[in-house]
Amino acid sequence: MIVLGIDIGGSGMKGALVDTESGERISERHRIPTPRDRKPGSMAQVVKQLVDHFNHKGPVGCGFPTIVKHGVCMSPGNLHKSWVGVNIKELFSEATGLPVTVVNDADAAGYAVMNYGLGKGKKGLVVIITIGTGLGSGAFFNGELLPNFELGQIPYKKYEKIEQWAAASIKEREGLTFKKWGKRFNTFLHYVEILISPDLIILGGGTAKNFDEYKEYLTVQTPVIPAHLGNFAGIIGAAAAALHQAPID
Ligand code: BGC
Repeated sequence: MIVLGIDIGGSGMKGALVDTESGERISERHRIPTPRDRKPGSMAQVVKQLVDHFNHKGPVGCGFPTIVKHGVCMSPGNLHKSWVGVNIKELFSEATGLPVTVVNDADAAGYAVMNYGLGKGKKGLVVIITIGTGLGSGAFFNGELLPNFELGQIPYKKYEKIEQWAAASIKEREGLTFKKWGKRFNTFLHYVEILISPDLIILGGGTAKNFDEYKEYLTVQTPVIPAHLGNFAGIIGAAAAALHQAPID
């Protein structure tokens, strides 16, 4: 099935057409900056623009950067607070006139890694961490998703959530070297390890591709590997989520 996968983030909204049989991208990636207000109405218009860009008429799968339960936004994440309680699935379906599936963005990246990437066939507890505007996490036990794991929300010192100290956006904002940031990220991984004892940690998001520059600062016992789907995992996984849930006609 050909699905338009859309990875919605705090800074950019990125789409591509994906063949969900193979997990391959069959178009170039198109990125539109997330509207500054990060509000439902303006972001729904960008979803529509992405659909129009690809002249797509089929199912759409979205990875969304908040807790998502049955298509409804349950937390503000890094978006505007007016998102909370909004039925994202209905909003985007109305804006585009197409069937839309919405899951948490890190869960989406996890679908990609587990269905088509390095997580394929992996047993036990596998956690996908996406490093971006925030710190997302997707957890899979024996290949089954445990939705809405929110490991980036662990409080840390004066920070309400550890992602406010250790996400990639903070590295950029504070101009941290990979060494400095890598040590922060390592602290985060130690919390993850002590809390949930995963068997494998797979890193996604843009910063996964720089893994060689900070891997030496990671001292957890759990094996940590970068997802080679890298930045595309979010889009491919969003499309895969639609495969699991969209009506097939
Ligand atoms: C949100 C998560 C999301 C992550 C990455 C966090 O702020 O709470 O739901 O997965 O950002 O976008």
